[in-house]
Amino acid sequence: MDAQLDQLRDEAIAAIAAAADETALDLARVKFLGQQGSLTTLSKGMKDLSKEDKPRIGKLLNDVRNAVTAALDIRKAALLADADKAAFAGVDVTLPGTAVSFAGKGSLHPITQLLDRTTAIFRRMGFALADGPDIETEWHCFDALNTPADHPARNEQDTFYFPDGRLLRTHTSTVQIRTMEKAAPPVRIIAPGAAYRRDEIDATHLAQFTQMEGLYVDEGVSVADLKGTLEFFFRELFGNDAKFRFRPHFFPFTEPSYEVDIKTSMLGATDRWLEIAGCGMVDPSVLEAVNTKRGDRAFDPEKYTGFAFGFGLDRLAMLLSGTPDIRYFTNNDQRFLAQF
Ligand code: DAH
Repeated sequence: MDAQLDQLRDEAIAAIAAAADETALDLARVKFLGQQGSLTTLSKGMKDLSKEDKPRIGKLLNDVRNAVTAALDIRKAALLADADKAAFAGVDVTLPGTAVSFAGKGSLHPITQLLDRTTAIFRRMGFALADGPDIETEWHCFDALNTPADHPARNEQDTFYFPDGRLLRTHTSTVQIRTMEKAAPPVRIIAPGAAYRRDEIDATHLAQFTQMEGLYVDEGVSVADLKGTLEFFFRELFGNDAKFRFRPHFFPFTEPSYEVDIKTSMLGATDRWLEIAGCGMVDPSVLEAVNTKRGDRAFDPEKYTGFAFGFGLDRLAMLLSGTPDIRYFTNNDQRFLAQF
């Protein structure tokens, strides 16, 4: 049996060394170590051995098994290395690599950065974040906001309608309604999000843009609160020397309504007013529309008053960064984005 084992080891090691690929190597493994393999067959003869021979042959069997296993491992590693070498053949590792353009880690989009800053300022004043769907009902977008059927904003030429009558919201003021449907006063929220209009795209207009909406409803909320809140907010953003003008305006859902103009050295335009926001005191008819929908008097206009505001983040981001064309924000041009 000694001789048989010696011969088997030599045969196995020769076969393994000759295996040209992994399939051949696996066949060799099965042939010698498999369940019907020659080593297994030989070790079945152990039971016929004399007591004296058993330990020695047992050890020899083990040695042969270990030697064959080691040879299999070595051959497998060599085959893998050959395969790697073949894969790399023809690759010139001395060629210079492709540089990552604008080497660096990238940055948040300027509108996202502004969104984060504005949200942080309003949160410090106790405003919570609110949300609503981009695809809206006409009721949430217009009727509940005191905007009658013949209002130009509802025109098919100005708005993206779906066949079922719903539409892409033309402003984030819809979230005022969505919030009051669910909550009870006091309500103090901001709602950033996308708004959509069928606008001709040019340097100052996109069909999709970003707005920031605000709403505060409680007992005794006044125009002074509205002015104080917005002036504080815009001073945080545009510097302490900012001057403001609340210019009377018309919005269907607020009464009185204003447009906010700003003058600040930060925007380098101390000689002219820049319009930055719309705002006003929530029209009682808006509160009543919500009450009717809710089926209660949670927002009783005899008891509660509120203010609302809305502004475009794209426009503010343009002013803050000196970006002359709103389309830069959506063109995905790295040369523009890498500046932020
Ligand atoms: N929704 C208005 C717009 O898109 C902006 C606005 C004006 C929102 C006055 C308000 C507001 O909440 O009170 O032009």
